[in-house]
Amino acid sequence: MKFDYLFRNVTVIDGSGGPEYRADVAIQGDRIAEIAPSISAEARYEIDGTDRVLAPGFIDVHTHDDINVIRMPEYLPKISQGITTVIVGNCGISAAIASMKETVPDPMNLLGDVEHFIYPTVAAYAEAVEAASPAVNVGTLIGHTALRNNHMDDLFRAATAEEIDGMRGQLRLALQQGALGLSTGLAYATAFHSSTEEVMALAEELAAEKGIYTTHLRSEFEPILEALDEAFRIGRHGKVPVVVSHHKCAGAKNWGRTVETLKLFDKVREQQDVSCDCYPYSASSSTLDMKQITDEFDIIITWSEPHPEVAGQSLKQIAQSWSMSLHEAGKLLMPAGAIYYNMDERDVRRVLSYPVTMVGSDGLPNDPMPHPRLWGAFPRVLGHYSRDEKLFPLTVAVHKMTGMSAARFQLPERGLLKRGYYADLVLFDPETVRDVASFSDPQQPAAGIEAVMVNGVMSYGRDKQVIGRAGRFLRR
Ligand code: ZN
Ligand code: CU
Repeated sequence: MKFDYLFRNVTVIDGSGGPEYRADVAIQGDRIAEIAPSISAEARYEIDGTDRVLAPGFIDVHTHDDINVIRMPEYLPKISQGITTVIVGNCGISAAIASMKETVPDPMNLLGDVEHFIYPTVAAYAEAVEAASPAVNVGTLIGHTALRNNHMDDLFRAATAEEIDGMRGQLRLALQQGALGLSTGLAYATAFHSSTEEVMALAEELAAEKGIYTTHLRSEFEPILEALDEAFRIGRHGKVPVVVSHHKCAGAKNWGRTVETLKLFDKVREQQDVSCDCYPYSASSSTLDMKQITDEFDIIITWSEPHPEVAGQSLKQIAQSWSMSLHEAGKLLMPAGAIYYNMDERDVRRVLSYPVTMVGSDGLPNDPMPHPRLWGAFPRVLGHYSRDEKLFPLTVAVHKMTGMSAARFQLPERGLLKRGYYADLVLFDPETVRDVASFSDPQQPAAGIEAVMVNGVMSYGRDKQVIGRAGRFLRR
């Protein structure tokens, strides 16, 4: 028998969290055909993996790549990190099922412009993904804010019973067509006015179809314990797993409080299925929010519709040169995007090393000056946090990006390096892997990622070029 690919003498980190081992790994078609100490059969292509790690392709569980994977299917920012699957539709905003009227409400504008929202069903979105054939696999959540925008004339109030019925019907159909679950972005003004009961009603649909609930909490600032409690209550009501998105304690007054939040996780985990994702940086990024403007930490403007020329400057600099207050300057910049240096490094480390934390980039692919997490999140965990800072072993780092994520998001036969599983794989050098993207130069492919395979197709190599596009739409 002749295999398609043979990785020789690699160090296998299989994604389960278990110990690494030496092996040869053979690929046939889109599957892992054999793993053995030594494989004598021939292969069309052989890759020497001496001193290299072969791991399952990374799963980016928190992205806003909905539209970009279709418009720019090479998707270099992600494939260059070793990512082979992205989960889109996070933070309450999804391109799938969203229909736009004249304007795109904040924060759905992170995804694209009016003319890009052309996928009224999950089936239509899936078809577009398959037609574009992106480099990475794509699975989608359904955004609560997108549902609200479809069924309500005013987002700054709670939904009526009739509107909730409309949302439920659309969510049900979306889940039946393969959506992975529901996401909310309750902190954003466009969802903040929804009641807990509104989300609970939607969670009932999740239970019937066994979807998951992911949430950008109602607050990541001082009321965070109350916000976590609300998320967990929604999960209990729907009897569904809860994933807290990009868990953090934001704002100077809140620093250090992940001790409390993780203690709450510990307690709740005894009774229900809750977990979280996290990006490995102490600065956040989103649209510019007047409520988050403060002089307690730096805020960098990443884009501004009326003032594109200030992208990359701090709000403080801009306000000074315009001789006005931070708030006045903020108002003139809207709509805009920002990076907020609003976290404590010790909180980031605590959350990242928590046993049920997955890695998600939360990268914003449309920003002209994006937060470096878009290009660097995964190699930063492998290089900076695991190897250099010794926060946890490499096997744990990989588990948080693969096996744990596939199990949570119900992606069958992915996330583990196992015979018969899909050949989504990344070969990297554990000595040199690192994030190159920085805040001042954020659009840089990582170092040390040597080969990335998606569904058995070699997709990215040492010359940092995309050489294959074999991503699929992943249905629950
Ligand atoms: Zn979010
Ligand atoms: Cu997000």
